[in-house]
Amino acid sequence: MPVRQPTENLLRPPGGSGDARRVRIRPIESTGDDFAAWYDVYLSARLADHPDGPQWLEHELSVIYEGNANHGVKLWLADDRDKAVGAAVLGLPLRDNLTLAEPEVYVRPEESRRGIGGTLLATLDDAARELGRTSQLIYLEGPTGADRTSGTAFAEKHAFTRRITEIARVQRPPFDLDGIARAEEAARPLAEGYTIVGWRNHAPDEYVEEYARLEGRLSTDAPLGDLDYEAEAWDVTRIRTGEERRGRMGRDTWTTAAMAPDGTMAGVTVIMLARDSDATGFQDTTVVDPRHRGHRLGLLLKATNLRRVLADRPGVQTVWTWNADSNAHMIAINEALGYRVAGWSAGYQRSL
Ligand SMILES: CC(C)(COP(=O)(O)OP(=O)(O)OC[C@H]1O[C@@H](n2cnc3c(N)ncnc32)[C@H](O)[C@@H]1OP(=O)(O)O)[C@@H](O)C(=O)NCCC(=O)NCCS
Repeated sequence: MPVRQPTENLLRPPGGSGDARRVRIRPIESTGDDFAAWYDVYLSARLADHPDGPQWLEHELSVIYEGNANHGVKLWLADDRDKAVGAAVLGLPLRDNLTLAEPEVYVRPEESRRGIGGTLLATLDDAARELGRTSQLIYLEGPTGADRTSGTAFAEKHAFTRRITEIARVQRPPFDLDGIARAEEAARPLAEGYTIVGWRNHAPDEYVEEYARLEGRLSTDAPLGDLDYEAEAWDVTRIRTGEERRGRMGRDTWTTAAMAPDGTMAGVTVIMLARDSDATGFQDTTVVDPRHRGHRLGLLLKATNLRRVLADRPGVQTVWTWNADSNAHMIAINEALGYRVAGWSAGYQRSL
């Protein structure tokens, strides 16, 4: 892939002071010394819009942004003299969605409205075009009570349109352990005949192929709103790549799955939590194969998995989950398990 040369851009002065300053935009690597500055800008921008929102840790993002055979990543940093003021990342699906690019732009709050964000986005646009990408997708997040953020204003200014809204829900201590156990018990009779299995981190060989099949389903089974997004290509190698990467990120995963009598996987759910921090747990994939719906497997799997996580890591401070606002069934499950609305995330798309 081509590597862009640093560009220099003369930007608008802050506050109209007439003191136009030079901002230099240059590509960086997530494994290099500059990544700490990149992360600092990223976090300051995110906290300004969503102070209590979920965050990746620096050492986790550094691994995610190494990229891999499934997903390429390019990073840029914007400096004003010696101060990092802007950060950008371009995600590039490499196995599916080959015409899609996923730009993200972050600017320190005190440096906003100077045109830094727009200049970074133009840099990402050029890189995406060079790589033959014709569509761009961004996910923006915000807290409940603030429907508009700097991110939505910026995206709309740049002709992105909202295609899907997801509602973020969160669990915080004190956890309703009895309620979770009751949900599990209530769901169990309807799931008779299914075997519930669970593992931490490495999927046992006997389940991994079926697990990959269900991961592939999730990409198009979950409501997609008006997003233009094609089915993701999943196989065992992709599962193993993800496991290896999460290991290096220092994140543990808890997976609970239901096996049907014929040996196929009927449903699966995953929660991730950093090994060295209780701050942010993520509810990842939950999918029930359409052939096995109506047996309360979604509730049973999520309740069982959450119980396992809380038993292993009782100090966890948040577990986050996201659902399309149209996904009434999964929302009912999450509410039953004690997840409460805490924000939103929205997918914005445009043609390039
Ligand atoms: C969104 C963000 C990148 C904008 O950076 P920026 O350097 O201020 O962007 P620009 O100066 O190029 O702004 C371009 C236009 O976006 C809109 N905009 C940006 N921030 C805005 C805000 N807080 N309120 C209203 N409009 C805003 C305006 O139309 C602005 O043009 P104007 O200043 O001439 O009115 C920055 O605020 C940020 O990091 N937000 C948090 C992260 C995020 O949501 N990123 C989203 C993009 S993927």
